[in-house]
Amino acid sequence: MGYSKRIETICSLLKPATTFADVGCDHGYCSEYMLKNGLCEFAILSDISKGSLEKATMLLKDYVKNGKAKGILGNGFVGVPKDTQEVLIAGMGGEEIVAILSHERYGFMPEKFVFQPMLNPDKLRAYILDNGGFIERDYTFFADGKFYDVIVGRKRRTDEEKQSYNAWETEFGRDNIIERGEAFLARTARKKKDIDGFLNREGLQDKSREELLERKNRLQRILDNETD
Ligand SMILES: C[S@@+](CC[C@H](N)C(=O)[O-])C[C@H]1O[C@@H](n2cnc3c(N)ncnc32)[C@H](O)[C@@H]1O
Repeated sequence: MGYSKRIETICSLLKPATTFADVGCDHGYCSEYMLKNGLCEFAILSDISKGSLEKATMLLKDYVKNGKAKGILGNGFVGVPKDTQEVLIAGMGGEEIVAILSHERYGFMPEKFVFQPMLNPDKLRAYILDNGGFIERDYTFFADGKFYDVIVGRKRRTDEEKQSYNAWETEFGRDNIIERGEAFLARTARKKKDIDGFLNREGLQDKSREELLERKNRLQRILDNETD
């Protein structure tokens, strides 16, 4: 299909849904994948940037013309119905995704979701679990020369389904801690090496050194499989 490996990975995690919303759609490739493969009946393409939205609505102009897709220029869930079956938010910071989900007027926990936060996935995990979400998959993958986190889940159906993550799982992702996948361990080793680089710098303040050493120790415990 000619998409980047990151986009292919995200698409492979999307489930069939009657209605689908791609929030922060930019190019619109994931909506194209859903529509072309008959995985949704209707797609909302939403973006805060006019230029980005235009890219998506241009790519999907035939679907827009046929009433199978609609472009919305706006922030987060503005214009996205709360009963939308599947929501994708990819390529934004975790805090920004939390801001969208928790918006006092437009925020909601989607029926099904795929989130691919670029930063602060720990804040997003904590928010999901504390606010009616259930996480099904939560891991790191390697694509196009970079590491990415992805969180796949749905709205929690019953109180019995309430999940609790320990501190390791919240910070690094439950599937990473349990499965110790190749990409996760490679990223952990790389982060540890980066810390060594910082520690070797001259003029580092004691407090910063202490924090870095503590962080390095946590990463080493992951590599040694000592996260219990
Ligand atoms: C890095 S691009 C990612 C595009 C696509 N989702 C992907 O993963 O390839 C981020 C997109 O999100 C849009 N965006 C950022 N903040 C947003 C918000 N609060 N609401 C809607 N769109 C937003 C940007 O305009 C940009 O098009």
